[in-house]
Amino acid sequence: MALIIGSLIAYILGSIPFGLVIGKTLCNIDPREDGSKNTGATNVARLCGTKYGIITLILDVLKGMLPVLFAATWIESHLALSIVALAAILGHVYSCFMNFKGGKAVATTVGAFFALAPWATVFSAAMCLAMVALTGHVSMGSLTFALALPVFMILTGNFGYVPVALIVMVILFWRHKENIRRLAHGEENPWIKPKE
Ligand code: G3P
Repeated sequence: MALIIGSLIAYILGSIPFGLVIGKTLCNIDPREDGSKNTGATNVARLCGTKYGIITLILDVLKGMLPVLFAATWIESHLALSIVALAAILGHVYSCFMNFKGGKAVATTVGAFFALAPWATVFSAAMCLAMVALTGHVSMGSLTFALALPVFMILTGNFGYVPVALIVMVILFWRHKENIRRLAHGEENPWIKPKE
């Protein structure tokens, strides 16, 4: 019962489309209609400016982190906490507030996994930032993060979270399939919209 309630809370929180809310209320755009058409922090930054992107990023990280931290106060099993983390991530990807459509879930994954295994997540996020700095593409950083997560789970001894890290790696790659196609063709969107 505890697991069902925890997962439900995580899914509903994960479903809150902060990028859409911020885009619509604070800068009068619908991120689903421009740029990469994603509701994530990158596209909000691209369309509304860095400040709004950072706010979206923080809120998307928190909606992944808080339900897992909350569940961890009464759940101990790695498997059960993995399910709660996955529920938050799937909430972002298949939001009940957006007709079960959603985003790419990188920030929500960062938050959920930070609650599960902080060091593995920090190291993976550091690799993500390094890749963004090297390539200039947030999507390259996100894909690096997805690959790094299961590796750092193993390297930091968090073996119980390797399965969920592998599942999330597949989800993140799947959600980035358009980015991968654009990267392969040299057509990936810059994260800052060029001035017109
Ligand atoms: O986290 C999303 C990022 O990897 C790509 O975002 O808007 O460029 O598709 P976007």
